[in-house]
Amino acid sequence: MVSSMKSCWKVVALAFFITCLHFLSGSCVEFDVGGKKGWAIPASKNESDFYNDWASKNRFKVNDTLRFEYKEDSVLEVSEEEYEKCKSSHPSFFSNSGDTSFQLDRPGLFYFISGVAGHCPRGQKMIVKVLELPTPPSPPPQSSSDSDTSSASSHNTHAFGSATLILLLTLPFAAPLNFV
Ligand SMILES: *[C@@H]1O[C@H](CO)[C@@H](O)[C@H](O)[C@H]1NC(C)=O
Repeated sequence: MVSSMKSCWKVVALAFFITCLHFLSGSCVEFDVGGKKGWAIPASKNESDFYNDWASKNRFKVNDTLRFEYKEDSVLEVSEEEYEKCKSSHPSFFSNSGDTSFQLDRPGLFYFISGVAGHCPRGQKMIVKVLELPTPPSPPPQSSSDSDTSSASSHNTHAFGSATLILLLTLPFAAPLNFV
């Protein structure tokens, strides 16, 4: 009875843990670049930072997708230097399909410009910063390999999101109640 309860809790904990990991590193977020405006020349000179303002309001993770929607335009992924110059002869990515999905496949900076002459200098350009992954916790050096959930959880908590934190903190307190 007690042992089945215990393993039940472990399954629940594991399920939550995996869910949180998936949430933190998940590939499910798609961002519509520029919101309703899409990918186009900002309306006025005052808005020349329109796309960087938009980007700074979002948190991008590895494997998230940027969706560019536009008409008679194009999107190029370029180097920082080319971004500054608003010019690229060999972009690492080019699309002019009108509806472009771009996967952010690594952490770090991505530079995008419009390939249409005159558009980038008027603000149709964007830097996207993709966050580093949270590093998975390494097991404690002199780990006693018994199945002590409470000590295992305290080693893991700091590296993960608050949902995991709350779950793992409550587990050791919640579990014994069921065994009384
Ligand atoms: C991103 O996707 C690739 C391929 O689908 C996968 O191998 C990789 O593990 C993913 N990375 C993250 C952090 O989800």
